[in-house]
Amino acid sequence: MTPRLIAPSLLSADFARLHEACALIESSAADWYHLDVMDGVFVPNLSFGLPVIEAMKPLSTKPFDVHLMIVQPERYFEAFQKAGADVLTVHLEASTHLHRSLQGIRELGMKAGVALNPHTPVEALSEVLDAVDVVCLMSVNPGFGGQGFIPRTFDKLRTLRRMLDEAQSPALIEIDGGVGPHNAKALFEAGANVLVAGNAVFKTPHPEKSIEAIKLLYGG
Ligand code: DX5
Ligand code: ZN
Repeated sequence: MTPRLIAPSLLSADFARLHEACALIESSAADWYHLDVMDGVFVPNLSFGLPVIEAMKPLSTKPFDVHLMIVQPERYFEAFQKAGADVLTVHLEASTHLHRSLQGIRELGMKAGVALNPHTPVEALSEVLDAVDVVCLMSVNPGFGGQGFIPRTFDKLRTLRRMLDEAQSPALIEIDGGVGPHNAKALFEAGANVLVAGNAVFKTPHPEKSIEAIKLLYGG
């Protein structure tokens, strides 16, 4: 069966109450934690890093999907593995040696992810399809939560789905940015496997209900 997962992004949670956000994710229908790490260089913003992820790990049982929006991410692979990352995603645009990076992530026992900015064509992945476990298509320009979904992402998603199917690759397609109940169904139907949602979960009065609402859109 095609995996259809929900990964709430903690970037939109209340940072003074991260333990509550963890408890909420644990008891909700969410599948993964999505953790956005920023360095103020690759993206024009800073978020949180290793100590915060390490502190959250004992509070959680669900996989940690760590999205690195940092330059030279390979400097920290081992540290993020120790901190608790299960999926570690680097940006193609920040990786001079992408193939080596993806191999390095797998060698540390994590799933290897690659994220593409909105301007990067999915064809840029054609030579690394067998080295990747998760492809994250950015549907906003990375750096901030709460932005509007870029509609062209649908074309990229369909093309990537075709590429992966033709290569018989089991890699998952993740969509990150501007996702919510308004577009979740269409994204799943176009071939997405993991939907990241920040504001659409944590900036609503009942986050667990928002997660449920996105999950319920699985059907027909
Ligand atoms: C943006 C991050 C996203 C962000 C999504 O750079 O990669 O994961 O948290 O937030 P929303 O769902 O609010 O667009
Ligand atoms: Zn992200």
